[in-house]
Amino acid sequence: MPVSAVTFRERKERGEKIAVLTAYDFPMAALMDEAGVDAILVGDSLGNVVAGQDNTLGVTMDMMLYHVKMVRAGVKHALLIADMPFLSYQINMTEAVRNAGRLVAEGGAQAVKLEGPVSRFGDVIGAIQRASIPVMGHIGLTPQSIHQIGGYKVQGRGEVAARRLREDAIQLQEAGCFAVVLECVPAPLATEISQSLSIPTIGIGAGPGCDGQVLVCHDLLGWGRARFTKTYADARGMMRGAFEEYIREVKENSFPGPEQCYE
Ligand code: KIV
Repeated sequence: MPVSAVTFRERKERGEKIAVLTAYDFPMAALMDEAGVDAILVGDSLGNVVAGQDNTLGVTMDMMLYHVKMVRAGVKHALLIADMPFLSYQINMTEAVRNAGRLVAEGGAQAVKLEGPVSRFGDVIGAIQRASIPVMGHIGLTPQSIHQIGGYKVQGRGEVAARRLREDAIQLQEAGCFAVVLECVPAPLATEISQSLSIPTIGIGAGPGCDGQVLVCHDLLGWGRARFTKTYADARGMMRGAFEEYIREVKENSFPGPEQCYE
């Protein structure tokens, strides 16, 4: 049965861990879906890993829609979640609902994710859900607030920050979010938050106590350098090797060989 925002919660109730990956195009999404991933997030991390930008702030609705449509074409089973990019939900509720709606109606996403606590975006989270669009929360390190946070660093350290994060997580649950991403949070705190919520937590750099994990696909394929990522396959190295071999064969005129030629 295809995964939905509803089945996400059921997985937590059954104690089944949830595996989420990011994807930005058709072939990668189709492969992950075939492999059995539970959800695919078209993250605004595409600004970094696809568009080569320093941060996610330059990602636009047009860019998101372009990538969500490609991913949609490859996904049959996994839940397709789309990130709401910077300034697509911060300006006012009407724009937020329209933009979330576009990601669903034009892009084919089944849920949206937005960064920040209920104290800032509670009204927006409510309005998007009233339009029948499931919302995933995202707290801890929120890359769209990078200039305010002052760098990509662990969040929730110290009693005051930890309490704030615990409260933010509870409030996102009360606001109706179907899941919440915890990014770069000390593992014991993420475990405690996960145990206190009935909705699943999806961790990235938040330890094994979360109800699920998400990784940026380029990170697990050899492009990642952050401590919390793991290289499951050095696809980057393999691809570079293939490019080098092709270049060498063209230069020495051994490609194309007889088998690649028409009689
Ligand atoms: O943009 C993204 O890929 C994300 C994940 C890292 C959670 O938000």
